Amino acid sequence: MKQPSRWSLLFPTLILLTLTLLYLSSLLLPKSPSPNPSNPSPPPKPCDLFRGRWIHDPFRRPLYDATCPFHRNSWNCLRNGRHNMTRINSLRWAPAACPAAVPAVDPEGFLRAMRGRRIGFVGDSLNENFLVAFLCVLRSADGGARKWKRKGAWRGGYFPRFDVTVAYHRAVLLARYEWQPANDTNANGVKGIYRVDVDIPADDWINVTKFYDVLLFNTGHWWGPDKFPDKTPLVFYREGKPILPPLGISDGLRVVLNSIIPIIEREVPRTTLKFWRTQSPRHFHGGEWNQNGSCLFDHPLDENQLDSWFDPKNNGVNKEAREVNHVIERAIRGTSIRLLNFTHLSEFRADAHPAIWLGKKDAVAVWGQDCLHWCLPGVLDTWVELLTTLILQNIENG
Ligand SMILES: *[C@@H]1O[C@H](CO)[C@@H](O)[C@H](O)[C@H]1NC(C)=O
Ligand SMILES: *[C@@H]1O[C@H](CO)[C@@H](O)[C@H](O)[C@H]1NC(C)=O
Ligand SMILES: *[C@@H]1O[C@H](CO)[C@@H](O)[C@H](O)[C@H]1NC(C)=O
Ligand SMILES: *[C@@H]1O[C@H](CO)[C@@H](O)[C@H](O)[C@H]1NC(C)=O
Ligand SMILES: *[C@@H]1O[C@H](CO)[C@@H](O)[C@H](O)[C@H]1NC(C)=O
Repeated sequence: MKQPSRWSLLFPTLILLTLTLLYLSSLLLPKSPSPNPSNPSPPPKPCDLFRGRWIHDPFRRPLYDATCPFHRNSWNCLRNGRHNMTRINSLRWAPAACPAAVPAVDPEGFLRAMRGRRIGFVGDSLNENFLVAFLCVLRSADGGARKWKRKGAWRGGYFPRFDVTVAYHRAVLLARYEWQPANDTNANGVKGIYRVDVDIPADDWINVTKFYDVLLFNTGHWWGPDKFPDKTPLVFYREGKPILPPLGISDGLRVVLNSIIPIIEREVPRTTLKFWRTQSPRHFHGGEWNQNGSCLFDHPLDENQLDSWFDPKNNGVNKEAREVNHVIERAIRGTSIRLLNFTHLSEFRADAHPAIWLGKKDAVAVWGQDCLHWCLPGVLDTWVELLTTLILQNIENG
């Protein structure tokens, strides 16, 4: 009673949580005529967690440090001595309509609510980056956490106190693809092709769809001439035959999503919570990754800078995030998969990539700066807060 400040924070949070729960539960109900026509009130509008701003919070602290055993060296910015890590981690995401709706993670509470359950990440290295943050956050509530790598998982963790498994399955295009060397050497210098079977999911994840209670998909960073240049192109196949006329890369993405997403809807049990994460933005400034592109920033971008960096109309080097999102958003619409729109909030954070602090002497000379993956701890801990919030809302509800 004598803590008005705590109540004044808690009370709006509870209201927001309740409204969000009400809305989400309305989504889960079958679309049959309302059994109660005397109640005409429309469902409350949910709070949009993904539109907002970063605010400075001097009391914010990461839940793990450089010693977390799940780290991957090149993302371990504390160990690699990245400047300004305290600053990077003192920013908190505040949704515009509900600034307190993304609470700090309570790893113990989360693991207790998830007891006996399994969470799977499927996609490219940006989901692996995300997974590492997730594992390190959860480990702060279970020191007995150990590495887990089974069922074709690339990387993962097991939390014995709560019998919870979290793992990442690498499937960069989600569809199956394989290298086929050219049979004759004259073919315009083409060394071979990567054959993509648009209607066949990669083995890396299709066999584990029934193992997980929560699945989080992404794809995006491999759909470009960077990974598949003209000499080693992607060639798309359907029902075992080449698609004609041949598809360009962005049409290939559209066709793969339109055939893989119905497979997810069919193969993944209805009780499994399904999420799709939108594209993670890159922040190469002054050139591509192999043209001295750089991200030595001390501060996040301002909101009014975002379009000049990311709007495809400006044809900048980082435009692909929003382009890929258009394709994803259309393919997901009307499905039971929930969109995690992390793109916008991450677009601000030009300050939070590993950049030149990669933990290896020649890495920058060979690979350029890393303005694609994220420092840990950092922005991805906010992704973890959003994901755990949404998982808890939906698990408790179903
Ligand atoms: C993500 O959120 C931002 C900010 O609200 C919005 O502009 C964008 O259209 C959203 N993207 C998708 C794919 O929903
Ligand atoms: C970032 O770190 C550098 C080197 O330690 C320091 O000179 C600079 O003032 C820091 N910037 C901010 C915004 O804290
Ligand atoms: C080379 O020949 C094999 C067997 O006919 C075929 O399956 C494969 O697709 C060919 N490779 C390319 C790059 O066309
Ligand atoms: C996945 O399942 C397919 C078909 O059931 C099988 O051919 C393949 O070997 C399996 N892959 C793995 C990695 O278990
Ligand atoms: C990148 O920087 C190096 C060293 O300053 C320079 O030699 C090289 O030409 C630059 N490359 C590009 C593509 O600008």
